[in-house]
Amino acid sequence: MYGFAQIALALATFLSTTAASPLRKSGNFSVVQKLNTQFVRSGPAAYARAFKKFNKPMPHDLAVATGNDGSVTASPEDAYDSEYLCPVSIDGQTLALDFDTGSADLWVFSTSLPSSEQKGHTLFDPSKSTNWKALSGYKWNITYGDGSGASGTVGTDVVTVGGTSVSGQAVEIATKVSSAFVSDTANDGLLGLAFSSINTVTPKAQHTFFDTAKSSLSSPVFTADLKHRQLPGTYDFGTIDSSKYTGTITYIDVDTANGFWEFTGSGYAVGSGSFVSSSIDAIADTGTTLIYVPDAVVTAYYKQVSGASYDSSQGGYTFPCSATLPNLTLGIGSYHAVVPGQYINYSPASGSKCFGGVQSDSGIGFSIYGDVFLKSQFVIFDGSSTPRLGFAAKST
Ligand SMILES: *[C@@H]1O[C@H](CO)[C@@H](O)[C@H](O)[C@H]1NC(C)=O
Ligand SMILES: *[C@@H]1O[C@H](CO)[C@@H](O)[C@H](O)[C@H]1NC(C)=O
Ligand SMILES: *[C@@H]1O[C@H](CO)[C@@H](O)[C@H](O)[C@H]1NC(C)=O
Repeated sequence: MYGFAQIALALATFLSTTAASPLRKSGNFSVVQKLNTQFVRSGPAAYARAFKKFNKPMPHDLAVATGNDGSVTASPEDAYDSEYLCPVSIDGQTLALDFDTGSADLWVFSTSLPSSEQKGHTLFDPSKSTNWKALSGYKWNITYGDGSGASGTVGTDVVTVGGTSVSGQAVEIATKVSSAFVSDTANDGLLGLAFSSINTVTPKAQHTFFDTAKSSLSSPVFTADLKHRQLPGTYDFGTIDSSKYTGTITYIDVDTANGFWEFTGSGYAVGSGSFVSSSIDAIADTGTTLIYVPDAVVTAYYKQVSGASYDSSQGGYTFPCSATLPNLTLGIGSYHAVVPGQYINYSPASGSKCFGGVQSDSGIGFSIYGDVFLKSQFVIFDGSSTPRLGFAAKST
């Protein structure tokens, strides 16, 4: 739902968001990279396994050795797969966080929020954590692609995701959240998995959970195996589970200059139509619900859907809910990733019309391959010294 982070946002005008069009926007905005190379490296240490085994919180500042791989369930929060939530433990307090490869802040609903913003959420209470260490004077403030935002204070704590535990992880405490977050009660915060260069903490940007964990994983990777329509999927850290895909993995280079998992797509095809070669500058973003692609792709797609049209009152393409939707193929190098047509029927809009899962990227500045795309594939986020993305067909 929330999608990529906009670090400096000057020209934004957004329409309000609804469940039917989570990243609906209009106007003109730009995502500006925040330059920050001051990474805070977590040092390696040896005792993570033992602490996990004995189920004891790890002492603060004790980083972990290898063998810290883990797997966590990613559950869709609603019938439309608007976002996927994963249980995350902060020193034993478990919250449901939206894993977002389009931003780099780990922030949580907390007891520091005004009571009007707490309602319905699980709150992190730093005063109940034995490992909490406040970072005095540190602040954060983030605005997402859909215009939502949050801000607050910072500390470090022990964070556990599935079997992966890290200590000294920056946890950003919300003291203010926008209304979209207040009303999204299933969601207790975000866990950003983009590059740490776009973390918003000042005076010093902090590491993402993945960057903190990286040196303790068997391999510096995480994978996303998201599922369509209410089935839980998984994020795995440190390993590539060969039971989750078939065929070979196609890797593509990632350009990290903007802090995103950004790559160049090779083109598209609609239904059984021929493949059109075209360079598409895109990000792989688990925190964005839909696919946002160049107008040429969008018009070629909906031309094949009878009754489809752009509906300005809905802020995107809609079509009769009874329509049969063609598959959409998106190229990754020579690999042709197929998004099944039924995934592109995102949700009911108004009357008998449904809102499309493929929409225009006009005004964003790049394409976004969000959950509608990602849940059709097995995806590897490889954080090696030369980062890359891997895509393969899901095993059935
Ligand atoms: C956070 O940033 C937004 C957008 O730049 C700004 O309007 C807001 O006042 C900031 N909030 C805080 C607490 O600094
Ligand atoms: C759509 O793609 C699926 C694979 O995901 C394939 O089995 C099916 O035959 C395709 N449908 C059409 C009409 O091409
Ligand atoms: C966005 O604004 C910039 C600067 O004002 C302008 O150059 C550009 O053409 C605008 N783009 C769109 C799509 O309106």
